[in-house]
Amino acid sequence: MNILLTGGAGYIGSHTYLALVHAGLVPIILDDFSNSNPKVLERLERISGKPVQCERGSVADLPLVQGLIQRLGIQAVIHFAAFKAVGESVAQPLKYYDNNVGGMTRLLQAMDAAGCRTLVFSSSATVYGDPASVPITERFPRQHTNPYGHSKLVIEDMLTALQVSDPRWKVAVLRYFNPVGAHPSGLIGEDPRGTPNNLMPFVAQVAVGRRPFLNIYGNDYPTPDGTGVRDYIHVQDLAAGHVAALKTLADKGQSFTVNLGTGVGCSVLDVVKAFEVASGKPVPYQFAPRRDGDVAQCYASTDLANTLLGWKAQFGLAAMCADTWHWQSANPNGYE
Ligand SMILES: NC(=O)c1ccc[n+]([C@@H]2O[C@H](COP(=O)([O-])OP(=O)(O)OC[C@H]3O[C@@H](n4cnc5c(N)ncnc54)[C@H](O)[C@@H]3O)[C@@H](O)[C@H]2O)c1
Repeated sequence: MNILLTGGAGYIGSHTYLALVHAGLVPIILDDFSNSNPKVLERLERISGKPVQCERGSVADLPLVQGLIQRLGIQAVIHFAAFKAVGESVAQPLKYYDNNVGGMTRLLQAMDAAGCRTLVFSSSATVYGDPASVPITERFPRQHTNPYGHSKLVIEDMLTALQVSDPRWKVAVLRYFNPVGAHPSGLIGEDPRGTPNNLMPFVAQVAVGRRPFLNIYGNDYPTPDGTGVRDYIHVQDLAAGHVAALKTLADKGQSFTVNLGTGVGCSVLDVVKAFEVASGKPVPYQFAPRRDGDVAQCYASTDLANTLLGWKAQFGLAAMCADTWHWQSANPNGYE
């Protein structure tokens, strides 16, 4: 089965690439490298022992994508390609609506024209906004607090409308919680440009000496230690979730929306302590005021993923930190 991975050179896409190869599928990457480094391709070849098929280009290039799908006999698309920085989306909303919503629209048009109507879409727990309670089930109301989150919500609605209009579409919407960690080889991992927006890469850069300390935003949340609680999921587990989603689409022939998380909430201080143990390095931190838009707690109900996909996260926080450290210490400056 030939699978097109849009954004396959990025953090989650590159790990999913390897999971697909491991499952005997044939992934082909389409990426414009707007937020990734082409050096990841050599690493993927080293780990998989196979040449990587990659096309440089944008998902918004309809003739390119339609041609690729037809020429390569693509049977399904996993759509990772998007911009994902919440703060930047507030400052430059049109950039986000254009790439995320506009890119998705063009991609769907290209798929339709090429007769490929099976899609796995990278959504996010951000569509739950500030949840009224935890754990969060897929039936919780959706809200958005920033243009990035709104772009995911609009796309989810677009995909629903498309399925209503044409039942040949088979769509898996995967709502990721907080992906962290790296491939156990230490050869690929998260390599954010500039200041990391997420906690784990920031902690890793403090431990490796690239940054002096961590700011912890808020220590007065109604959580056990006062810091924010999130559902961190190992990127290897997340990658396996995509293989399970493709298999479920093929076996059941029905669209679905599912959370991919561990169901376990970890606080910022839990992450700092676990990272110190994994790395043997101190992670100095200081408390800072809460940030607008941050929620106290967010973790998934994983019941649907367990029953529908037959998938369950295998790795805990210690493994997430150990694999992040393995990647970060072997590649202090990422792919450069
Ligand atoms: N990492 C997270 O915390 C997280 C959480 C929830 C959801 N997601 C979603 O998962 C997906 C993948 O995230 P990631 O962390 O791997 O991000 P990433 O930035 O590492 O990967 C995205 C890739 O898409 C590429 N890209 C962007 N726009 C493109 C376009 N128009 N055409 C072709 N390629 C394009 C980038 O160059 C990059 O390689 C995104 O849709 C993101 O919104 C990520």
